[in-house]
Amino acid sequence: MPTLSKLVARQVLDSRGRPTVEVEAHCIDGAVGRAIVPSGASTGRHEALELRDGDKSCYEGLSVHKAVGHVETEIALALHGFDLDDQEGIDATLVKLDGTTNKSRLGANAILGVSLAVAHAAAASHHEELYVHLNRLWRAKLQPGENAEPTMPMPMVNMISGGLHAGGNLDFQDFLMIPVGATSYTQALDMTCAVYRSLARVLGDGARLVGDEGGFGPRLASNGEAVERVIDAITKLELKPGRDVAIALDVASTHFYHENNHTYEFKSEGGRSLISAEMIDLLERWATRYPIVSIEDGLAEDDWEGWKELTARLGRSTQLIGDDLFATQVARLERGINSKAGNAVLIKLNQVGTLSETFNTLLLARRHGYRTVVSARSGETEDATIADLAVATGSGQIKIGSVARSERLAKYNRLLRIEADLGPKVKFAGWAE
Ligand code: PGA
Ligand code: ZN
Repeated sequence: MPTLSKLVARQVLDSRGRPTVEVEAHCIDGAVGRAIVPSGASTGRHEALELRDGDKSCYEGLSVHKAVGHVETEIALALHGFDLDDQEGIDATLVKLDGTTNKSRLGANAILGVSLAVAHAAAASHHEELYVHLNRLWRAKLQPGENAEPTMPMPMVNMISGGLHAGGNLDFQDFLMIPVGATSYTQALDMTCAVYRSLARVLGDGARLVGDEGGFGPRLASNGEAVERVIDAITKLELKPGRDVAIALDVASTHFYHENNHTYEFKSEGGRSLISAEMIDLLERWATRYPIVSIEDGLAEDDWEGWKELTARLGRSTQLIGDDLFATQVARLERGINSKAGNAVLIKLNQVGTLSETFNTLLLARRHGYRTVVSARSGETEDATIADLAVATGSGQIKIGSVARSERLAKYNRLLRIEADLGPKVKFAGWAE
């Protein structure tokens, strides 16, 4: 059995030049696994806590020395001699050791770094690709008859960035494309890059700035204009919007929702202010006017009544993803399932903090017909674990950011390697209506 001998942690930097936690798990047989934790900007209130030092003299308070220290002392002591294949046992020990509901004592960044490094070390010890090892862990959770085949995900790709991710004036955070007509991952990526380059030509000077996730960050007159520019980019390639390439939105509306007066406050479009029912009307009009197949966080993270209404109105024809709403957590997703809020869940490892809990959320979603989209954060690194996770669990979709900036390409390229490794019979999720 692969046995943990040592944990090493250090502070490294993410794609915004902010500190984050890197962990190395060492196995007695010499195998080593490494993971780096990502970090969000449009962080939801229900996410597990990212522990930062708060010492203003060090990276403006963002250093993570405390979390690093927790890995090398308390966590290393608790996990010493553990079987690296016992991911559930390790994750349960981490959760128990922390003892809080939101991992605020040891830090979700410390905990996730360990949880993922352990999986990498186990894979290395077995001389296996990470997705093969993750697929074995995933399979063990399924009932006989449930599909466990590794599957290449359909990418949902950021084209124009707004909100907290870009300096432009757009309220909505991501204007994305999904190459719904693609029949393989390789073709999906090829179509995506073609649209991205076409969009650069459509935007001209507006394409010079890119947001945190590599999408263009132009100043445009309205949110609707961003959708129209992406449609222009698609039609200029003689592709058909909706049939070959469809539009998706991440409204990230929690971040312009004002709790005191229960309104969504727009910066653009004359600074209008909408109540929940008006937001739903707006999204419904957009879903009719544009070839939009997916809307994420169309309403704020605690607007459950609004989410129910939105789902009743649009849920049959449109994928409605809860990101801040569900925060990758079983309890919140259960509430959504029971109240028919949303029909899909964004999966971000660091919103919950361990691999095993992430598996549980994925499984709950799958068993209740909720679609799953494994997602990167706006602050990323060369760590490509999410590519392996999406394939291993057959999540169906992945959201990495745009096809620019190496922290994004690390994942797209990892998927190309996995696709090649899986060989000619590789399965691709495609886009099922
Ligand atoms: P975040 O953005 O990583 O800044 O939270 C990603 C998203 O909202 O999907
Ligand atoms: Zn989101």
